[in-house]
Amino acid sequence: LTYWWCLQHGESDNNVLGKIGGDANLSPRGVQYAVSLARHMNAQQIPDLRVWTSQLRRTKQTAQDICATKEHFDALNELDAGVCEGLTYEEMADQFPQEFAWRDQDKLRYRYPWGESYLDIMGRLEPVFLELEHMENVLVVSHQAVLRCVLGYFLGKKPEELPYINVPLHTIIKLTTEGYSCRLEFIKLPV
Ligand code: G3H
Repeated sequence: LTYWWCLQHGESDNNVLGKIGGDANLSPRGVQYAVSLARHMNAQQIPDLRVWTSQLRRTKQTAQDICATKEHFDALNELDAGVCEGLTYEEMADQFPQEFAWRDQDKLRYRYPWGESYLDIMGRLEPVFLELEHMENVLVVSHQAVLRCVLGYFLGKKPEELPYINVPLHTIIKLTTEGYSCRLEFIKLPV
């Protein structure tokens, strides 16, 4: 029986504004979450805890107060929305109606111009999956689209289901694996 954890960064300023992508800081609520997350993790005194974050500010800030060895990976960065980075979905529909419609038709394969698709993320996560399969005591702090891929992979979901998996905000997801089966536990923290 082995277990590890994954979670989304706390609420960011771009989350509040409804903007896609970017490299925003945590919102005041996100900062509060980072504090209660550190309190929760530190209280458990997990031996040799390691924290993996993306290279973006919001995941680093979320993990900031956790006592652990930290590493930052490009592979854990959020889906690159290319020309749509920094837009709201409304602005995207307005400025790039054809792109918006294509994405709606095939969210798994749709690649933003100069950006990525969910399938691209699955590709760049491959080395991460290989490591996670025989790791313990790792806490992965990443982003919604990336964590959908991570959960989908470990739960054996169909590729088409990936872009729609629910990854709740301000919630620690504990994954326990036993052989080929994987169980999830959701720990919602008060913010
Ligand atoms: O922009 C990044 C979001 O996490 C992706 O969400 O694929 O539902 O647009 P979405």
